[in-house]
Amino acid sequence: MALLPIITAPDPRLKRKSAPVERVDAGTRQLMDDMLETMYAAPGIGLAAPQVGELKRIIVVDIAREDEELAPLAMANPELLWVSDEDAAYDEGCLSLPEHYAEVVRPASIRLRYLDRENEIRELEADGLLATCIQHEIDHLDGVLFVDHISALKRNMILRKLLKLKKSEQKAEVGA
Ligand code: NI
Repeated sequence: MALLPIITAPDPRLKRKSAPVERVDAGTRQLMDDMLETMYAAPGIGLAAPQVGELKRIIVVDIAREDEELAPLAMANPELLWVSDEDAAYDEGCLSLPEHYAEVVRPASIRLRYLDRENEIRELEADGLLATCIQHEIDHLDGVLFVDHISALKRNMILRKLLKLKKSEQKAEVGA
């Protein structure tokens, strides 16, 4: 297992569409495990492969609280089969947009199909935080960030701050 560096916005790699996984093999499982380890260490409740520079349709999720047992989900080619008419709003954050949060409205319940760690086709129904988190991660596979769901004004404010932070970090690295 290995910790992977997480790409932060703004970065063109976060805006690209990821390719489907042909089958979940040992290499895919390794990536899933590394992504889970990276997500837990961050800490975060979800991570998508493009966030670690792999343009593959793979996501990992675990919404268990600190006082609960781990409940890792690793999915390849997750695909929404159904979403509810009813919406839910959550304050979302993202490991690629550190320290920034905004309320995002999404369908409250979903049903999806995916390939699990053993390359088996699975279906899952989710609501609440799990539904939001899965939709957020699937968005990453299509180059969509949570800030793309909010007003342009707020989005640009967040991205400008992140760009400034990135530039100051780069300057510090050059200076060191
Ligand atoms: Ni994210």
